[in-house]
Amino acid sequence: MQKFENFLLENLPVSKSIHPTYEKALRQMLVAGGKRFRPALLLGVVNSYNPLLEEGAMHAAYAIELLHTYSLIHDDLPAMDDSPLRRGKLTLHIEFDEVTAILVGDALNTYSFEVLSNAPFSDYTRVGLIRELAGNGGLNGMVLGQAIDCFFENKPLQVEDIKFLHTNKTAKLIAASLKMGAIIVGKEELGEKLYDFGIKLGLLFQIQDDVLDVTLSCEEAGKLTNNDEEKNSFVTILGLDETMSQANDLADELIQELNGFDENLKNELSPLLTKYINRHKN
Ligand code: IPE
Ligand code: IPE
Ligand code: MG
Ligand code: MG
Ligand code: MG
Repeated sequence: MQKFENFLLENLPVSKSIHPTYEKALRQMLVAGGKRFRPALLLGVVNSYNPLLEEGAMHAAYAIELLHTYSLIHDDLPAMDDSPLRRGKLTLHIEFDEVTAILVGDALNTYSFEVLSNAPFSDYTRVGLIRELAGNGGLNGMVLGQAIDCFFENKPLQVEDIKFLHTNKTAKLIAASLKMGAIIVGKEELGEKLYDFGIKLGLLFQIQDDVLDVTLSCEEAGKLTNNDEEKNSFVTILGLDETMSQANDLADELIQELNGFDENLKNELSPLLTKYINRHKN
């Protein structure tokens, strides 16, 4: 993923003005790191079918990371999860102020679509990518999930409703990352299959994140942990043991599906996916 990190550094948002800290704040969470899971999924799909398109695919991978980073900045705001730590760094509303964190989130959100609109693909592919990112990251995707997550704090939900919440706040963007890779290589049918796989993968990813909230220290996680008591999560509703057992079942199902992928796709994605699919077991 070194190439991705280089691309990100070369394409950081630029904004020169009289504002003393705006540009620094725009860049801070992007360069702080993170697992880059969503870009790795998109690039994995592209590399397994057409490595010649990798360079162009960087634009799309970066766009997803921009939108994801905006979602984290807003997720940490006092009105949402009220967290002082992210990616091992102080959150923007702590280091700068709340106005800056809100506006940086807004700026990264729109910048992600600016980056996608400049990706070196046909208009057809570009519009397909924009549609996927907007549809899964926006009003009927991540934003809907976040709205439900925050509205139902301290109001316990049924497991089926928690799945709906996790699917929207987390899984749709993960599924879109895989599907956008398929759009770039012109494989629409594969895109649908990978999207369904990505929804399950994203559900597991959020269940694991909820497990890590109770099992990791802030230092290990690089973010505030033990912060989900008021939230609807598998752990708060089902307890840790039952959550682990359901996560194991989901992990087994995903490994089985992964084994049914085309050989090139399986070989390319296996190292990354096995690591994440088993992440709750460590
Ligand atoms: C955190 O996402 C928010 C969730 C959807 C669980 P990541 O765990 O991918 O965060 P980074 O990108 O590594 O910081
Ligand atoms: C956030 O879920 C999902 C987003 C859309 C950002 P969490 O609130 O559990 O994410 P963390 O634990 O703060 O990273
Ligand atoms: Mg949250
Ligand atoms: Mg949070
Ligand atoms: Mg969490």
